[in-house]
Amino acid sequence: MENKQILIDSLPQGKLQTSDYRLATVPVEQPGEGEVLVRTTAFAVTAGTRAGLQGSASYAGAPTSGIVMNGTGVGEVVASGDPAFAAGSRVMGPTGWQQYSVHKGAALTAIPAEHDPIHYLGPLGVNGLTAYFGLLDVGQPQAGQTVMVSAAAGSVGHLVGQMARIKQTRVVGVCGSDEKGALLVSRLGFDAAVNYKDAGFRDALKQATPDGVDVYFDNTGGMILGAALFRMNVGGRIACCGVVSQYDTDRPEPGPKGIPGLLINKRINMRGFLLFDYAQQYAQARREINGWLQSGELLSLTDEVHGLESAPEAFVNLLAGGNIGTRVVRLD
Ligand SMILES: NC(=O)c1ccc[n+]([C@@H]2O[C@H](COP(=O)([O-])OP(=O)(O)OC[C@H]3O[C@@H](n4cnc5c(N)ncnc54)[C@H](OP(=O)(O)O)[C@@H]3O)[C@@H](O)[C@H]2O)c1
Repeated sequence: MENKQILIDSLPQGKLQTSDYRLATVPVEQPGEGEVLVRTTAFAVTAGTRAGLQGSASYAGAPTSGIVMNGTGVGEVVASGDPAFAAGSRVMGPTGWQQYSVHKGAALTAIPAEHDPIHYLGPLGVNGLTAYFGLLDVGQPQAGQTVMVSAAAGSVGHLVGQMARIKQTRVVGVCGSDEKGALLVSRLGFDAAVNYKDAGFRDALKQATPDGVDVYFDNTGGMILGAALFRMNVGGRIACCGVVSQYDTDRPEPGPKGIPGLLINKRINMRGFLLFDYAQQYAQARREINGWLQSGELLSLTDEVHGLESAPEAFVNLLAGGNIGTRVVRLD
């Protein structure tokens, strides 16, 4: 049996190009004792993996070429040397961009039969849990407060905004097009959306946050963080989730002006977090998020492309803002 894979052919110089990837075909590995062979049915294309290629995600180790592109996927167990995972069952794990992969059982999460596996790439997966813990634990939103989120129409962002709405806050999303902004308000219940590409962005943000900002969920860093800092209320919280505005380049810009002065004057708590810190609480979080999905309070937007070969283009396009919600490559 053959396994098609997308390899990182060369580390990006400047912006990521589809030519940084190449297709390879290798024999399917067989699982040993305690190992599980998974056939990928879909994987997520996510912004954070660009930080891994840049070398700015220290937890991911040094960027390397000649290996399968990393990513979280869902799939079906084909053969198993681990009694916890029967053949035919469905799992989530670090499949990477390939048709088949072998894992230690401990690296996989079983997907209950009643759950849609695609939700494990969105609200019940890495990005949904990131939204949940970053907003609720780091952000600590209180009813009636204002929550601002950047990359608001993306995978993490559209979930953050809806969770903030569920917690009865005023929600302001920042995104890169008026079309995305209109969708956030009309479909997802955001109170306002602001386009950071507009010349009048800072004024529009001021108008959208008349009572200031109590929680800023920062997916982007860069000039949006710079603008948010000036809208923060005394005692505000900034949840530093990611820096997508600075990933797709060899020359990331320095952080914004006003730090630490603004943090001191307004007693702002600005805190970075990584999802892995919350591993002990994933099951509880999944139960609550699934409850919101079932009740219809939380909508999961998925932006699907088809076929392994379409992944590099889907990634380049995501970094340019082409996605709405979670971008998923389907192989089934
Ligand atoms: N801390 C953690 O544990 C953790 C875990 C998972 C993800 N993350 C972070 O979460 C963030 C969102 O990831 P995601 O997978 O959900 O990606 P995503 O938001 O679905 O996609 C990236 C989005 O970033 C926006 N963007 C691109 N260039 C930008 C720029 N220069 N300025 C502002 N926005 C820009 C684009 O939307 P526009 O149209 O709005 O420009 C694009 O759609 C990333 O920073 C990622 O690193 C952190």
